[in-house]
Amino acid sequence: MSPNSNFLRCIKCEKEYSSDEVRYRCDCGGLLEVRYDSLRATKKDFTGSGVWRYKKLLPVDCRVTLNEGDTGLYRCENLEKGFGVKLWVKNEGDNPTGSFKDRGMTVGVSKAIQLGLDKVACASTGNTSASLSAYCAKSNMKTFVFIPSGKIAYGKLAQAMVHGARIYSIKGNFDLALEMVNDFCAKHGVYWLNSINPFRLEGQKTIAYEVIEQLSFKPPDYIVLPVGNAGNISAVWKGLVEFRDLGLLDEPPKLIGIQAEGAAPIVNAIRDGHFSPVENPSTAATAIRIGNPVNAEKAIRAIRESGGSAETVTDEEILKAQRVLAQKEGLFVEPASAASVAGLLKCIESGKIEEGSRVICITTGHGLKDPDIVVERFKGEMVEIEKRELEILAQEI
Ligand code: F0G
Repeated sequence: MSPNSNFLRCIKCEKEYSSDEVRYRCDCGGLLEVRYDSLRATKKDFTGSGVWRYKKLLPVDCRVTLNEGDTGLYRCENLEKGFGVKLWVKNEGDNPTGSFKDRGMTVGVSKAIQLGLDKVACASTGNTSASLSAYCAKSNMKTFVFIPSGKIAYGKLAQAMVHGARIYSIKGNFDLALEMVNDFCAKHGVYWLNSINPFRLEGQKTIAYEVIEQLSFKPPDYIVLPVGNAGNISAVWKGLVEFRDLGLLDEPPKLIGIQAEGAAPIVNAIRDGHFSPVENPSTAATAIRIGNPVNAEKAIRAIRESGGSAETVTDEEILKAQRVLAQKEGLFVEPASAASVAGLLKCIESGKIEEGSRVICITTGHGLKDPDIVVERFKGEMVEIEKRELEILAQEI
């Protein structure tokens, strides 16, 4: 029995389904979300650490954990000077496999175990596969991952490999890999753990809970985060709304979704008022190289309801933000994560974020996952020397 009795509800037609049923969409095609018969918690209920600190607000008991959550909230005083806002970075790279996906997987894989399943799959730009593989290794489950060939960072691929996943490298992009894994799961009775799975998003909503608690329940004005398949921004909004409905938060922050210029279907939808996928998405931030995000409808709704907006950034802006965060704040995040800081800067310049605002940027994955891009940029500046040349260095000091 789960601690909180819950069910699935379509966000479009509101049809309800039992959460004992394996189902990812409504009969009408709409996305599903987890709803609770009664969601109750006070601050005193939050005990223990990490994601499971919020067990009163989660749909399953913990069946597998790697101590996810409890990630650092870093006040960025050096960056604040130039930006004119109060800035914190919520660094999800602190998670066990180095990304926010672990929050979703501890809950999603626990759900799979509760359902009595032992085979799981996902499509991935890298981090989802790394995380799923680790949680499934721990739970002795068979893992199948579908990745776009040649388009995922080596650090992430190494993680999926070493944890023992069966890896299918797809001749095509993430959007095709997602279509394929959907068919694969339906045909072979394999549990699908992409962010279309609403149980995964229940774990990810704890980012919002944690940020609000870390700020002593004094919410920021804005939360800025990168958007790819658009699950995380939807999850963060669900967490904020639940805290508001529980009376733990007066006014939730506005959400600002950031996408790379070459892969920006959500930004286009917010601007144009209708969604259409981007064919052949491209960006150096491979984690968010997605043209047809599965959670588009939830994400667009989340941004609108929060009163927030969306913005694009160029690859150059992303990589510059990555260096600035590393060199001024000591935080090494992967390019997709740095998109949040690049986007913040753009929003300050355009007046979308007002001077003096309290802002959280969520950095979603660790920089060591994708070192190649950094080494390529800096290797020319490295100086090779021999011992006898040490004296020459005196000139540099
Ligand atoms: N940042 C990082 C580091 C990611 O890996 C992802 C998504 C996102 C942001 C975007 O989050 O999809 O919830 O909007 N990575 C997925 C993956 C797609 O397969 O690892 P989202």
